[in-house]
Amino acid sequence: MELIKNLQWRYAVKKYKDELVSEDKIDQIIEAVNLSASSCGIQPYRLIVVTNPEIRQKLAEGSFNSQIQASSHLLVFAAFNNITSEYIADYVAMMEKQRNLEIGMLNDYRDTLISHFSAQTPEQNAIWSSKQAYIGLGTALIAAAELQVDATPMEGFDPQLFNDILGLTGKNLHASVIISLGYRDTANDYLASMPKVRLPIDQFSTMLK
Ligand SMILES: Cc1cc2nc3c(=O)[nH]c(=O)nc-3n(C[C@H](O)[C@H](O)[C@H](O)COP(=O)(O)O)c2cc1C
Repeated sequence: MELIKNLQWRYAVKKYKDELVSEDKIDQIIEAVNLSASSCGIQPYRLIVVTNPEIRQKLAEGSFNSQIQASSHLLVFAAFNNITSEYIADYVAMMEKQRNLEIGMLNDYRDTLISHFSAQTPEQNAIWSSKQAYIGLGTALIAAAELQVDATPMEGFDPQLFNDILGLTGKNLHASVIISLGYRDTANDYLASMPKVRLPIDQFSTMLK
């Protein structure tokens, strides 16, 4: 399938050209992330697209990843700090509406989710939310590769700095993981010509019959 070729083509770019990705492609990557699966289907994270150069310069402070600043777009996967009963109720009401169900039809599902998430600590809910955000990260990498847009997933950033600059804490969010998007600078990126390093499939995967 074409996807395998695209995944072989992609790599975590270290140096980008000074070229912008079109808004149409950015929109398609965002849509792909929005279509990602999430546990319980409640999408407990948000995607923030940062283009403003001054903000990005501040976000890059103290990080070894120059791509935070020197790329076309920066996507911040911001996971929930907690899963509130109000959020669940609103989301389940939206499910009923989008599926043309009678109001109240999903009350049992709603109540099961509310009792599950309210029995967990906010820290447990934040970790769970961050795991869901990483599923979105995977989708974004795949979508970018299909569009022949380069991308770098990054954990090498200061989450507290991101939370402060982007005002995330007040929105029940925290920066979980980020991706820069753009086009590789083949002449100046030492990784551009390097072969991909992966385990042989028979070491990576086991088939139990
Ligand atoms: C969650 C995650 C965090 C990563 N953090 C960084 C990072 O901070 N800086 C960086 O240059 N690459 C980062 N990478 C890229 C990995 O080093 C890279 O994906 C890995 O070496 C495999 O190579 P490939 O993606 O080029 O095939 C990260 C990758 C993932 C999935």
